[in-house]
Amino acid sequence: MPAVVASAPGRVNLIGEHTDYNGGLCLPLALPQRTTVTLSPRSDPDLKLSSAQEDDDWEGAVEDRPGGWAAYVAGVVQALREDGHDVPGFEASIDSDVPVGAGLSSSAALECAVATAVAALLGLDLADRSVRRRLADACIRAENDYVGAPTGGMDQSVAMLAQPGHALLLDFADGSATPVELPLEDAGLVVLVIDTRVSHDLTDGSYGDRRRESADAARALGIESLRNADAGRIEELADDVLRRRARHVLSENLRVLAAVGAIGDRDWRALARALDESHTSMRDDFEISSRELDLAVETARSAGALGARMTGGGFGGSALALVPRGDVEAVQSAVTVEFRYAGFAEPAYLLATPDAAARVESVS
Ligand code: GLA
Repeated sequence: MPAVVASAPGRVNLIGEHTDYNGGLCLPLALPQRTTVTLSPRSDPDLKLSSAQEDDDWEGAVEDRPGGWAAYVAGVVQALREDGHDVPGFEASIDSDVPVGAGLSSSAALECAVATAVAALLGLDLADRSVRRRLADACIRAENDYVGAPTGGMDQSVAMLAQPGHALLLDFADGSATPVELPLEDAGLVVLVIDTRVSHDLTDGSYGDRRRESADAARALGIESLRNADAGRIEELADDVLRRRARHVLSENLRVLAAVGAIGDRDWRALARALDESHTSMRDDFEISSRELDLAVETARSAGALGARMTGGGFGGSALALVPRGDVEAVQSAVTVEFRYAGFAEPAYLLATPDAAARVESVS
């Protein structure tokens, strides 16, 4: 069998947060930052893994259940073997410029790079979108069942299905993935990602709490998922927390549709409004923002951003801002100054130009 090099992107979610596991809508895009895996099969079923970003290598059987970063690789192998694929053991070396713990899906990038390399080894047709969909599903299972992070599927879906120059409208009710052209450059705009450097951990419980509260709210409303919730009935919920959680999910789905409409109309002010409203909803109703995220969003807006919101799972990680290209430096230095003043860590920045999904880089 040949050696394969494959890569997969990190992602940033333009809008539609904590909707994926509620049968809802979201609109992520793939980042230019990628994780690359160089994979050579070996004759026994075990794995030998190393990463340029980690001190320790890992070697063992999938059944040994490693912790940390190796779990994302072993979990994908386990999920693909469960799907009936004859996945050989392999040696893999990993390298990545996706920031870790920034809410930009470094874990999905790793899972999807591994799944893509293995798919190439097995001769699967990566030009077939249904093959990509199934690989994304295997990566989701790796993360939920093997790693134990109760995430919803947005990250792996966009990493496997994104198209350059497009955001991806994901509908978790019918499983569809629709590219939405995002001609920001023509409009002189960029999506600036502000990494607060407060790392978030999707296995630490707070993310799972929101997932549980969403399920409780759906149960209290007597419906399968919050996607089908009725606004009037939500407001009648006796429990204040469940009412606000459900209100966020319902209104966030509507904001995703508003954002897609605004992008189609090239109405960037309307897109910015949806971003701002999304942040307010996450701060007040879903309660997943933080002082750092609020400060990043408010400062970005007052320094020239059209709109801004926290992005990803919350409790740290990154915010994004829709910024006229000429104002990017002013926004960055304003946020950096305010963070220093508040005694927060030095933020980091990147520009989210919509890039390509996971791909095979070479086979030798
Ligand atoms: C994390 C999860 C996703 C999604 C977002 C919130 O990134 O991995 O599945 O739930 O949080 O929108």
